[in-house]
Order: sequence, then C-alpha cells, then structure tokens
Amino acid sequence: MIKKLWIVLAATMAWTGAAAQTACYDVIPLPNEVVKLSAKPFVLDAGTSINASGDELVRNAEFLARYIKESTGIDVAVNGSGKPVKLRTTLHNDNDEAYSISVCADSVVIDGASPAGLFRGIQTLRKSLPVAKAKAVELPAVRILDMPRFGYRGAHFDVSRHFFSVDEVKTFIDMLALHNLNTFHWHLTDDQGWRIEIKKYPRLTTIGSMRKETVIGRNSGKYDGKPHGGFYTQEEAKEIVRYAAERYINVIPEVDLPGHMVAALAAYPHLGCTGGPYEVWTQWGVSPEVLCAGNDSTMLFISDVLNEIMDIFPSKYIHIGGDECPKSRWHECPKCQARIKAEGITAKGKFSADDRLQGYVTHYAYNVVKKRGRVMIGWDEILESDIPSDAIVTSWRGDAGAIEGAERGNRVILSPNTHLYFDYYQAKDVQNEPLAIGGYIPVEKVYEFEPIPKQLTGEKAKLVCGAQANLWTEYITDFKQVQYMELPRIAALAETVWTKPELKNFASFRKRIPALLSIYDNRGYNYARHLADVSAKYTTLPEQKAMRLDLETLPGRTIHYTLDGSEPTLQSPIFHDSFLVNADAIIKAATFDADGTKGRTYCDTIEVNPATFSKITLNNAPWHSYTYAGGPTLVDGIRGNGSYRSGRWLGFYQKDCDVTIDLGKAMPLSEVAFNCCIFQSDCVVDAGGVVLKLSTDGKKFKTVVDETYPEVNKELKYGVVTHKLPFKKQKVRYINLVVKTVKELPQWHNLPGWGGFVFIDEISVK
Ligand code: ACM
Ligand code: ZN
Repeated sequence: MIKKLWIVLAATMAWTGAAAQTACYDVIPLPNEVVKLSAKPFVLDAGTSINASGDELVRNAEFLARYIKESTGIDVAVNGSGKPVKLRTTLHNDNDEAYSISVCADSVVIDGASPAGLFRGIQTLRKSLPVAKAKAVELPAVRILDMPRFGYRGAHFDVSRHFFSVDEVKTFIDMLALHNLNTFHWHLTDDQGWRIEIKKYPRLTTIGSMRKETVIGRNSGKYDGKPHGGFYTQEEAKEIVRYAAERYINVIPEVDLPGHMVAALAAYPHLGCTGGPYEVWTQWGVSPEVLCAGNDSTMLFISDVLNEIMDIFPSKYIHIGGDECPKSRWHECPKCQARIKAEGITAKGKFSADDRLQGYVTHYAYNVVKKRGRVMIGWDEILESDIPSDAIVTSWRGDAGAIEGAERGNRVILSPNTHLYFDYYQAKDVQNEPLAIGGYIPVEKVYEFEPIPKQLTGEKAKLVCGAQANLWTEYITDFKQVQYMELPRIAALAETVWTKPELKNFASFRKRIPALLSIYDNRGYNYARHLADVSAKYTTLPEQKAMRLDLETLPGRTIHYTLDGSEPTLQSPIFHDSFLVNADAIIKAATFDADGTKGRTYCDTIEVNPATFSKITLNNAPWHSYTYAGGPTLVDGIRGNGSYRSGRWLGFYQKDCDVTIDLGKAMPLSEVAFNCCIFQSDCVVDAGGVVLKLSTDGKKFKTVVDETYPEVNKELKYGVVTHKLPFKKQKVRYINLVVKTVKELPQWHNLPGWGGFVFIDEISVK
C-alpha cells in the first residue's frame, strides 16, 4: 500500500515538473488592488518578447529581461517578434508611481503613470515569478492597479562610521529597488570619517577620510590599531546618483552639521571653537567638538561644501543633519558668545541662547540650499530653534519631532528610533547576534509601525511625507552585516509605506515572505532568518500567577520545545497552542523544516519568586521610547541582560520609576531587590536613590528604605547592578518602590547637565 502511494506521488511530481511553474502576485509590498480573472493564463517562455520604445523604456525592458533570466533561467527577447510583454507609460493617475499590470493569454501589459511607475510594476512582476529554473511560467490572468501610500519611502545608510565601496552602495540601491523604496539618504560625513571629495577643501578627504584606529566594542577603551577610511570621488558619487536614478531612486546627501564634525575639524582645525588640534574620532558617541558658530570662515565652509554637494547631487532635497550638537564649546567660546549677542539670540522655553545658536547655523545652511532652489531637511533637533515652514524634519527621537514639526506646519519624515533603527538588535538573544548598538526592533515591530502619528489628523497628517529606516554603522563592519541588518526588516518597512493600512496583516506578510527570501537567496543577499526561527510572546496573568507563552514561526515549519533547558530535538514535544508557565523553567524551542533541518534555538530563563506575575501598577510612565510591554516587564520572571534597549528593561527619564506591586496576599518578607542597567556614555546611569514602602492593605504604607545615593559612579561605565533592599521581616502584600532618576549628570560626563536615565528590570522579593 505504502509503496503504491509513493508511486502515485512520484508520477504526480513528474507531471508537475513538466508543466509550467506559476506566478503569484501576492508579493511584498502587497499590491493595493489585484483582480484575479478567470481567463486563460499567459505563458512566459523563450518565445516571449518584451516590447518597449524609446531609450528609457528599452532600459526598463532590459531590466525585466534580466530579472526573468535571473529567477527562471528563461531568455526572453527585447523588442523581438514573440508573444508580447508590453511596457508603456500611458496610465492616467495623479500618482506618478502608479502602475497597472494586465495579464491575459495573449499579452502582458505593464503601464506606468511615469517611467518610475512602470519600474515599480516591473518589480511586482519580477517578484511574482518563482525562483526556479523553468522552461515556462504561467502568469494567471489578472488586472492589478497599484500605487504607493507615501511619496517618500527611504533608507538611510551611514558610510562614515564604516566605509563601503561603490559596488556595495550600488547593491544597497538594488535592495531598495527590489522593495519599491524610492529614496536613498546617504549619510556622508561624521566624526569618524569624511567620505565625499570637496574640491575647495581637499584636506577633508586627504586627512578627514582616514582614522588611525577604531575603538573595540562599545567604547571599551581598547583600540584595534588598524587605520580605517575611504571616500567617494565626485565622479563616483555622480555614478551612484545615475545608478539610483535608473532605478527611480533619489539620492539625498547628508552633510551633518554643526555637530558630528570632528573629521572636518581634524582637516581644518580653525573651524572649531578651540582651534584644536583634533584627530578623526576613533570612538563612538557624541563629541563635544563641533563647528564654531561664531566664526565667519565656518559659515563660508558650510556654503562652499553645500554648493559643491548640490553640484554633485541633483536631489531637490538636501539633508544638513543637525542632530546631537552639544553646546559646551559654544558656551566657552568668545566668538560664539559674540555671535549670540550680535544676532540678539535669546533663551526660549527649555532652550538656552547657546542651544538656539544652532538655529543661526541652520538658517544659514537653509539659505544656501534655498538659493539653489533646493529644500533643506534636518534631524528633529532643528525644531529647537525657529525654522522656515518649507524645511523638512526627519523625526528620529520617536515621533515627537514629527508631531511638533507638523503642528508647526513643516513637512516631516518618520524614522523613529522606536521602530526604524535597523542598527538595533532584531532578536532578544543578543549573545547569538553580531554586536549591535543595542535596542530591540524585530521585523514584527517594523511591520506594526504606522507612519502617521495618532496626534496628526486632517491637513496635519498630510504633512507626513513618508518614512525611512536608518542604518548607523558603528558596529557594522562589512556589507554582509549591512544586508543582515536590513533584510528582511526593509520588507516590513516597504509594506508599511506602500500598502494601504487596511490591507496590512502580519500573518499574511509571514506567508508571503518565503518567496521574497528566495529572491534574496538567488541574489546572494545575506539576511536575518529570525522569522524562520521561534518568536515568543509572553503575557503575564496576575489572577493565575502565571504567564501565557505563545510560540510562532513561518508556515511549513514545526516548533519543538523543552522546559528543562535541554536542547529541543524532533523527539521533543511539538508546540500546538499557547500554554501557561508558573514555575522556574528554561524554555528552549527550535523550528524544524520538512527535512528535519533545525533553526536557531530560542532560549529564555524564567525565575519565579513571590512577586513574579503579580499585578503591577506604574505610577509614572516610562520615557516614551522605553515603555515596551509596560509594568509586567518588571515581574515577568525574565531578567534583562546588559542591553538596555532589549525590551526587557523599562527606561525612566526625569520622572522617577514609581511602581506598586500587589502580591495577591500578605506574606512574610525581608527583602526587595531590583536591577539597573548601565550604559554611562548614553546617560544610562545607576539610580539616584530609592524609597521603599510596604503595606498590608494598600492604603497605609510604611517607609522601610529611603536612600539617596552619592554622585554618579564614574568608574561604572556599563553592566547590570543589583540593588538589594533588606528590611525587618514583616507581613507584606503591597510594595511601593520608587527608583530615583539622576536629574543632572556631573561635569565629568560627556553630556554634563543632561538628565540620567534609569533602566530597571525584574523586581524580586524574598
Ligand atoms: C541620530 O540618530 N543621531 C539622528
Ligand atoms: Zn565657537
């Protein structure tokens, strides 16, 4: 019987192999309107010809022919005599990136509202094809009408912290094209390297493009002793602009000013407040050394550099940076103070006159850009001064800059570090990831991002141009790692900025991603495989003093798990449905494909004490970027590791962490403990003090600990600190714990006077 069945199966498979492969239009980003028709399919084979007229459309036809060959091995002609795939730009649509695809037995027509629209349609057709050698592919009859939700769909790439070759940048652009993105934000200058030739200032590249060595890890104090550098000649940059333009991608150059300028200062020390000497920065973070805003030659420098940049880059939009500019040098600099006086610059709101001196520089750059008919973009710090209403704001510190910018009438671009920082970790088990800056932004989180903040409605919402992902490369040393960080998170971004929100659905995205991954494989792209591994969701249930555990993966994979720390195998239990955990456990889970090939093992340690899974109330909200799953994070039995942005910690700023835990019943206790995560250079420091109050009825609380800690410990740069708060044994049901934030960092800190964050996790009792 079994043998017979096998023979039938084999026969079916042989027949399938002989028949045509079939295209599937459920691509990423999902087209907005797909009407499947019941007519006969078009058969794409060696007898097919892609027909187009005019140089630009013929170039597009050649792209499509190349894509078809790459995915299926089928050679189709361009402007031959076979069954036609017709390329046109006759579609009437207000959105110039709109396209339609009409497939019937006799022909395929891809029609764009412009050549850019046509190119997006070509990408959809290309992604519809199976990646498999075939003699023929059936394209089911269909009518697609599609256009992007946002006109600005971008990816930013920092080539300063690490340099990437012209070919690598071109591959980056190919990756954007595959995902229908249309903007490449090229971060060309920073403290650690100046990467673009400026003819009037040759030392920017002879000196500023090379650093003598690089700090190891996260500012460990140890250096690798290896020079690192590189730059693009103006001709190379123009070649990249051309390459991108052929893919209908606009290149927006960024010259980051007046902060992040140490490489330029190393080349031209007179541009700084102190006159130096400076060297191209060899470590990460925010340097206090910035352009001197009181120096007229600095203004000339800004004008000269931006003008050469505008000669190279035809982009209507020019990014002038503006982020993270400390004002300590300006405060001490006679020239800067004279400028403040001469310009009548005053403090306003929470910004000092020194802070608002940046507005003078921003305005200067704005005018240089405006004079050439271009539009200035800056990071959200440009809102700390008055800015003209036609400047555009890139909101990176969450969406606050987008909200404020749009409220003020400026157009805005969303690239919040809560959802679109692709230099952040994409998995929680960071020990199995390449070193990253921190954070935790898995694909799901990118996918759930909504570019229009809730606060913006009506005309204000229309000021949102779109969104972009940012890739800072402090810890990204080679291009394989660039791809790993971008892919497939950029696919999630693509759908977010292209597809109507009502069509978005992560479960559907999960089903569609394997086809896109096969294109990544075929092109040799290195990508992160977390979606094919286990992703875990935890929900604490205080009523049951337990936690519900849910495990997910891609379709076609099976999850096996253990709870005793042993390695899951095909013999371990299969995960079918969520279950409760209420005791110590080491959860290990892994996916297996149909061949039994195992993915990465997921692991979490649950340590239960009487506070675990209890009801917890946050009396103060965490800082908006570090809220994560809220209070339950602190009593979920899982301890945060050394990465404060892992999602396991809650971060508080200015407002103290103030929580109340209800243990459910009174019990004898003699200690409460909690952990703080430290990352000193990011202002993430230890607690400034604690107050612990206990109660049996939730009304009358007795203070048992009230401590203020001495000044921030300079030696404590990073790590996890445990605070144990012992008290006389007593019956306790309610615990009120206040962990104080440091309100002002000391003078020795790299950001003196800024507030300290306190990151806390896992409150335990005994
Ligand atoms: C930024 O991440 N400093 C824009
Ligand atoms: Zn100065």
